[in-house]
Amino acid sequence: MSTESTLIANIGELVTNDPDRSGLGVIRDAALVIEDGRVAWTGPAARAPAADVPFDAGGRAVLPGFVDSHAHLVFAGERAEEFAARMSGRPYAAGGIRTTVERTRAASDDDLRANIRRLLAEMARQGTTTVECKSGYGLTVEQEERAVRIAAEVTDEVTYLGAHVVPAEYQGDTAAYTRLASTDMLAACAPHARWVDVFCEEGAFDADQAREVLQAGIKAGLAPRMHANQLTQGPAVQLAVELDAASADHCTFLSDADVDALASSQTVATLLPGVEFSTRQPYPDARRLLDAGATVALATDCNPGSCYSSSMAFCIAVAVRDMNMTPAEAVWSATAGGAKALRRTDVGHLTPGARADVHVLDAPSHTHLAYRPGVPQTFAVWRAGVQVVREFRSGSGG
Ligand code: NIG
Ligand code: FE
Repeated sequence: MSTESTLIANIGELVTNDPDRSGLGVIRDAALVIEDGRVAWTGPAARAPAADVPFDAGGRAVLPGFVDSHAHLVFAGERAEEFAARMSGRPYAAGGIRTTVERTRAASDDDLRANIRRLLAEMARQGTTTVECKSGYGLTVEQEERAVRIAAEVTDEVTYLGAHVVPAEYQGDTAAYTRLASTDMLAACAPHARWVDVFCEEGAFDADQAREVLQAGIKAGLAPRMHANQLTQGPAVQLAVELDAASADHCTFLSDADVDALASSQTVATLLPGVEFSTRQPYPDARRLLDAGATVALATDCNPGSCYSSSMAFCIAVAVRDMNMTPAEAVWSATAGGAKALRRTDVGHLTPGARADVHVLDAPSHTHLAYRPGVPQTFAVWRAGVQVVREFRSGSGG
């Protein structure tokens, strides 16, 4: 961590997500001071204090780093053929996960480390500074323990997802696998994890099985989150709310009662539009959730099956274009919303005291994230006060 202070000056639009201001808490013609890895000051550029290192943002927009609250990064191999088959009409089903389980089990620790580090670097280059990472492609005690241990080397937001699908060797005995995931496997994984998650869905785990794993996880000191209502309008969202899960993720098929339950709870509805894009499913109804008063987060779900994209900007663009979110709502959901889904107060905003996760866009406003889909717009990134992405200049002039 640098002990020098940095002054980012000449910010055209500073998105603070300050809850005391409306919307994104935008300050125009702003400056921001970083000290000891934290945001020390924000305000009008004209009143900025002096600092050791100056950085001229050149009128660009500055945002909190993206908080990607849902990703599966401990895996080996890829499933491009499965994607191609889906694009010619085959539906997405939970069973494809087993292909990645086979590849992951056969990979060395260092192969898995190299893959996760590659993806994290890819994410940082796109402005993501906090990443949640799940296990779930090991599905034995040893393999799941290895997955959460390797994830814990690179992030504090580690999720134990032993109950992802029933592995082939337990085919036909989901009850026995559920027991394993709630006992020995959980005991091996809990020391490395903060969260427990279950894929509660047809073809994976039903509500009783999900409850068994989640309650055991809670007893072991983990906090719950859930893959809920991705493929069918099942009981998962209600269970997530009942257990005060930090987040119910996917929320693609919701009843009115599900929407009401989310709106009157602390459980964030985390929408993963890259999944619907990559599985040709209908998009979740963000407008319905927002209008009911639910808290909405956006995340990538980056994984080799249902969505192999690490781009939060892509999620924002789709959420704005096809899920009726405004650019401001989508940017909030990809930053402050993600922080809420991880029950974090130190990230997802740029007010004094926050971790200095700063994303300088090569654009004058946050709207450009949706307005210029598919275009790399990350200009520079600081994570905890350390510059992790240097100034990116496109074209020949730089
Ligand atoms: O969140 N839905 C369950 N798990 C992942 C997909 C994993 C895979 O297909 O490999 C998801 O979409
Ligand atoms: Fe997922």
